[in-house]
Formats: sequence, C-alpha cells, structure tokens
Amino acid sequence: MSSDSPIGVFDSGVGGLTVAREIMRQIPNETIIYFGDTARVPYGNKSKETIIKYSRQIIRFLIDKGVKAIVIACNTATAFAREEMSAEFDIPIIGVVRPGANAAAAATRNQRVGVIGTEGTINSHIYNEFLNMTNPDIKVFGKACPLFVNLVEEGMTDDPVTDAMIKRYISELVNDDIDTLILGCTHYPLLRHAIERFVGPDITLVNPAYETARSLKEVLLASDLMCKNPPAVPKHEFYVSDGADKFKTLANTILPCDVRDAILEVLNE
Ligand code: DGL
Repeated sequence: MSSDSPIGVFDSGVGGLTVAREIMRQIPNETIIYFGDTARVPYGNKSKETIIKYSRQIIRFLIDKGVKAIVIACNTATAFAREEMSAEFDIPIIGVVRPGANAAAAATRNQRVGVIGTEGTINSHIYNEFLNMTNPDIKVFGKACPLFVNLVEEGMTDDPVTDAMIKRYISELVNDDIDTLILGCTHYPLLRHAIERFVGPDITLVNPAYETARSLKEVLLASDLMCKNPPAVPKHEFYVSDGADKFKTLANTILPCDVRDAILEVLNE
C-alpha cells in the first residue's frame, strides 16, 4: 500500500456511487475500487450485528485489493459499523454522517433540521448526536423512508410512484417547519430533483457526499496519502455481489466516467 494505491468505497448498492461521483470531482487523480453489496441490499432494515458482519467482509476484500483508505458510502453502515471497523482495521475509515451533520448545522437558520434515511440510520439517532454536538439548540426531526432505496435500485428516480412516496414520507417534516433537510442515505441524492420539487425552494437539501469527499481529501493530505503519480485516466474498478449488468447500467447514468464492467464477487463469510 502506498500513496498511489486506490481508495475503497462501499455501499449496499448504487447509492454509494453518489459519494464516488463526488470523490471523482473533488480529487480526480485518485483511483476508486467500489463494492456494491447488491445481493444483500437493502441494509436499512437489518440489525447492527448483520451490518457489522457485512462491513467487515467488504473491508477485508477492499484491503486485499490494496486500498489506502476506505469510505463507508452508506449511512446505515456508518451508523452501525464505523466505530467498530476503525478500531479493528489499521487504515483510515471515513463515514458519511459526521460530514453531513456538519454541513447541515452550518446551513440551518431556524435550528430545525430534518433527516431522512433508512430505519437503521434514523433509529440509531446518530444524526441527532452529531448535530447536537455541533449545536445543542438544533431540533432534529427524523423520518425513515424505507421504500426509497428500492425505488432507486429499480431506476425509478423520475416516476409518479416515487413522487407519491415522497409526499407520503416527507409531508410531516415540511409541516414541522424545517429549513434544512439532510439526505441521510446515499441513495437519496438520486431522488434530489423529485424531493426538491416537493419541498420547494425554502428548504435547503444537504447531500453529505460533498463534505465526505472533502473530509477524505483532508485525511489523505494529513496522512501524506494523496496520489503522487496520477495515471492519465484513473482506472476505477467496480465489484458487486449480484446483478452486475443492472448495476453497470445504473452506474453509467450516475458517474461521470464510463463503467465498462461490474465484476461479480461473492464474499467469504
Ligand atoms: N445507501 C445506504 C445508506 O446510506 C443503504 C441503504 C439500504 O441499503 O437500505 O444508508
């Protein structure tokens, strides 16, 4: 492992590509190895023990691929497994929650912040913790939106069914007079336009991916791990645990690079 080694990024499926996309924009010389656990998506309704087990398997796989740092591009896995994984593995491991909470704390003007995410993320209250660490006066309104992940994995980002679900899940947050809404699941930025249409211009949407890519850059700089001999074009690699073709098609609609291949990888227990 050296400063020219790749960065490992993982999620339950295509959601983490919203974070990979931001890493590609902000630190374009870096190469990414992405793992989407498409055989076991969704993570949002699974237990902490299960998510720790899955995260451990994926991190081992990425470390075997020689990565120099890992981004958990999944709020659920960040909420349930980041601390444990950081204690277990001797490699920088960056999650998405703290960066998202910091961005929201800076954005809110009325100190009323909404968070949407999976059941796991919302019930963990991890965003409340980080938001109130920054500013104890912030009132946090959480709402689990379990069906959003499946709608995104099915490519239904622009669909009347999705619009109906957005209305059903988010109406109560709008009535709570929030001025900032955290997209607390990495799949949700893919619904950004539909959510924006529903909540209107007075609510600021926070996509934690921007701040996460910034945090990653800071960690790489601080550990002298920024790529020193960048390739002309980074050769990113994509691995999935199922449905490689479907993943590839969706990935090509999300990422700025050409995803030629998604490689099927069955992880060992
Ligand atoms: N994209 C992930 C998250 O940020 C996981 C969603 C899921 O698989 O339920 O939580």
